[in-house]
Amino acid sequence: MPLSQDELKARVGRAAIDYVRPGTVIGVGTGSTVAHFIAALGAMPERIAAAVSSSERSTAALRALGIDVLDANDVEHLDVYVDGADEVDPSGYLIKGGGGALTREKIVAALAQRFVCIVDASKAVPVLGAFPLPVEVVPMAEASVRRRFAGGVLGTSGDAVLRLASDGTPYVTDNGQHILDVHGLRIADPVAFESAVNDIPGVVTVGVFAHQKADVCLLGTADGVRTIT
Ligand code: A5P
Repeated sequence: MPLSQDELKARVGRAAIDYVRPGTVIGVGTGSTVAHFIAALGAMPERIAAAVSSSERSTAALRALGIDVLDANDVEHLDVYVDGADEVDPSGYLIKGGGGALTREKIVAALAQRFVCIVDASKAVPVLGAFPLPVEVVPMAEASVRRRFAGGVLGTSGDAVLRLASDGTPYVTDNGQHILDVHGLRIADPVAFESAVNDIPGVVTVGVFAHQKADVCLLGTADGVRTIT
């Protein structure tokens, strides 16, 4: 019987433990794949010293296991950052933010020596952009940012849709901002594209992780965990 997507996520979550050195302070991302990693952290016989977390959700899960969670401002660097992604290209460039935590994820990733990305095989793509790109924006800039994407950024245009919560009101991030999900992009040059979107007034964070790309990607496949460096 083929393995479920959740079982593939569990495999890479467990495999990422090999990149965690006991006694160090590590960065922990957000999402259903990371939830498996957090569970595996709780079962590590030699514990980590502490974690810096990228969301309220992950913080609660870490604390429930008795793991100390530090403020990012109190940490100069992290040994490793472990997080999932919504898309991974062959160079380790990522789209992230499906779970809405992209700003904190980018901040924590930037503190880390090494970014280990954990994904199931469905996230591997030749070119980024099929997954609607999350862009966290200041609410008063929503319309102008939407127009910029409609007009095209570095030769690719997209339809930016305001993300809504389950009650139909705008989704609000941990930072009190909104998210536009941009459909229809084809991101041929992720490094230049990330910089170009960062330059649009009102953009807080773009979900392209090219400057903070993955150093190692653990890909959960039916044949086991593939490591891509
Ligand atoms: C959270 O904001 C995202 O960047 C997640 O890392 C991404 O959406 C992957 O989520 P899953 O592990 O739940 O697929």
